[in-house]
Amino acid sequence: MSTTLYGGATHRRVTILDLRSAKVRGEKWAMLTSYEQMTASIFDEAGIPVLLVGDSAGNNFLGEENTIAVTVDDLIPLTRAVVRGSKRAMVVADLPFGSYETSPEQALATSTRFFKEAGAMAVKLEGAHLATVEKLTSAGIPVMGHVGLTPQSLHQLGGYRVQGRTDGDAIFDAALALEKAGAFALVLELVPAELAARITAALAIPTIGIGAGINCDAQVLVWTDMAGFTANPPKLAKAYRNMRADLLAATQEFADEVRSGQFPSEAQTFH
Ligand code: KIV
Repeated sequence: MSTTLYGGATHRRVTILDLRSAKVRGEKWAMLTSYEQMTASIFDEAGIPVLLVGDSAGNNFLGEENTIAVTVDDLIPLTRAVVRGSKRAMVVADLPFGSYETSPEQALATSTRFFKEAGAMAVKLEGAHLATVEKLTSAGIPVMGHVGLTPQSLHQLGGYRVQGRTDGDAIFDAALALEKAGAFALVLELVPAELAARITAALAIPTIGIGAGINCDAQVLVWTDMAGFTANPPKLAKAYRNMRADLLAATQEFADEVRSGQFPSEAQTFH
């Protein structure tokens, strides 16, 4: 492994130790969601060190309104595809709503499925389920925490709203407790930048921000937002291209060429 997460050739996957070293060096890194092998291979080639098979697959891949309906059986084939499509990235599987909250034993059974059936290298879960994090890490399963706006609690929180403006200390305490329980990294979603900076400074594990300001150790985006596929992206996202427009144009061109008899041309024809 080179001295940076991104640089140099490496023939192995990124590990939780690499991420911890990056924090010590002060090296920032990017995480993206991925739901299938094509984007996984592109993001891997681009040097993205961690790919998250998020339950955001619900609203960005499976056509659901939000993440709540997503099941373990939905995410296992997607996780397997992302593992197959990548060579370097650590692949993290999101534990879907209802698959881990009942007990640490339920979480272990679900995570074991992601490890055995899909080849995941870590799992992510929302909220301060401390006994569960302890159980999973002692069973050899690295856990990424997630606090702030936790989309699986959408109805309890009353919508996609910034968290921690009035109860910042509760989020700060949850972050510390998750680190103590054994989490290797922590997503901070939709929290004030000042709170994210305070948490980042207090933790030895990397924080991964989404709508959490510039001072996190890493940043994550839902890949369809990053690429400009999402029709109405949230304020926390930045579209680096307009791939929706590009794909629409390519599709219209193909259909036009078929209608006008230009496709297939001699180049695509066999004799
Ligand atoms: O499911 C997801 O995409 C996520 C990220 C936004 C962190 O949880």
